[in-house]
Amino acid sequence: MADPTESVTITDNRTGESVEVPLVDGGVDAKAWAKLMPGVWFTDPGFSVTASTTSAITDLDGANGILRYRGYPIEQLAESSTFLEVCYLLLFGELPDQQQMDAWVHDITYHTFIHENMRKRFMEGFHYDAHPMGMLMSAIAALSTFYPEAKDIFDPDNRYKQINRLISKGPTLAAMAYRASLGMPFVYPDNELNYSENFLSMMWRVAEPQFKPDPVLAKALDVLLILHADHEQNCSTTTMRVVGSSHADPYSAAAAATGALYGPRHGGANEAVIHMLEDIGSYDNIEPFVESVKAGESRLMGFGHRVYKAYDPRARIVKEQADKVFEVTGKSPLLDMALKLEEIALNDDYFKSRNLYPNVDFYTGLIYQSMGFPLDMFTVLFTIGRMPGWLAHWQELLEQEQRIARPRQLYTGVGERAYTPIADR
Ligand code: CMC
Repeated sequence: MADPTESVTITDNRTGESVEVPLVDGGVDAKAWAKLMPGVWFTDPGFSVTASTTSAITDLDGANGILRYRGYPIEQLAESSTFLEVCYLLLFGELPDQQQMDAWVHDITYHTFIHENMRKRFMEGFHYDAHPMGMLMSAIAALSTFYPEAKDIFDPDNRYKQINRLISKGPTLAAMAYRASLGMPFVYPDNELNYSENFLSMMWRVAEPQFKPDPVLAKALDVLLILHADHEQNCSTTTMRVVGSSHADPYSAAAAATGALYGPRHGGANEAVIHMLEDIGSYDNIEPFVESVKAGESRLMGFGHRVYKAYDPRARIVKEQADKVFEVTGKSPLLDMALKLEEIALNDDYFKSRNLYPNVDFYTGLIYQSMGFPLDMFTVLFTIGRMPGWLAHWQELLEQEQRIARPRQLYTGVGERAYTPIADR
């Protein structure tokens, strides 16, 4: 019998029957509930209290504002690591030694090119004002047609190859989507540059023989990618796992996850923050805007989080990076408004009582904008950063041999009724 202090007892008052269920890793196995009360389902829209899986990748303590990848605090990784090293850590569980790191960086660097058909026929087929997220999502899905062997998801070597391709080709596709929207020629990857530098080169290079981005900006981008690399079972990662649970290939699953990230409540929030600040327009309008948020007429974008009920630790790091970036680019004209908005919200009972603090997206948009990225590229940057997290969870899911995702519903529609021919309606 379970230790009664480490268990819960569920009683079905209709029958008087009880079951004692042990608490394991802080959770209660729903199978015991299902056995006691077959056909009675938990209602949990948005999965607020449902743990859909166990995971050993990211430890997120929202009450205390703690985020760790494989045990390493996000602050230390942002300070001392690189995005590619963090990718390795998330995917393989440990920080690489020098040899492993060299091999990993080599593999990523030498898979950045894409098939010419992707550029000439696929990317050029979009309308001139296509949103780069729509282009990127479609391009990721299209990669599955170039690598049909990706369907062999239970072969670890094959899996490694596809993981590698998705991480290495993401920036190439993203930059291509951007250049296509400007009618600018595509810039091929430069293997002499590191991951973030190469992305900036593919974005901005014009006619110079080699594009060398400002090291402060390249570093800031790398740090932002680290901060976005994983966030346990968020909407897009859950999408990755749900699609992955059907044993679809990783390109199809990652395209679906990209779609989930596209929404303004998730990855699109950084773009929405800039729109919000521009709509507010001036200092004098901040107070009335906050009042409209409190009246439920609008949302304070970049604030609030399903899991964090304290200051998002990533937001603190983003703020530090913003200062460094603004020293190079000049201060964003929207920064002072953002700071004032934050100060008002943090001291207002509406936000305090609901534990609403700035999240990672409150300041990232300001950095991206100052670096020269157009607004519709912001979520694309988030996609590049989140890719290793999606893939780490996809790999973990396959190793766990999880059942196909298939939630239940509580049917609230009409009961059986007879069909009436259209003439009689
Ligand atoms: N502005 C104003 N009120 C808010 C906000 C906000 N940004 N977020 C939550 N609330 C209120 C909400 O109205 C509710 O109040 P009440 O109890 O009176 O009905 C209460 O706080 C709880 O909110 P909720 O909607 O139940 O919270 P949720 O966990 O379902 O939503 C969220 C989380 C992130 C979708 C939401 O906070 C939000 O829409 N924030 C703005 C968008 C945003 O910044 N998203 C980026 C999230 S971080 C990046 C990522 O991980 O994707």
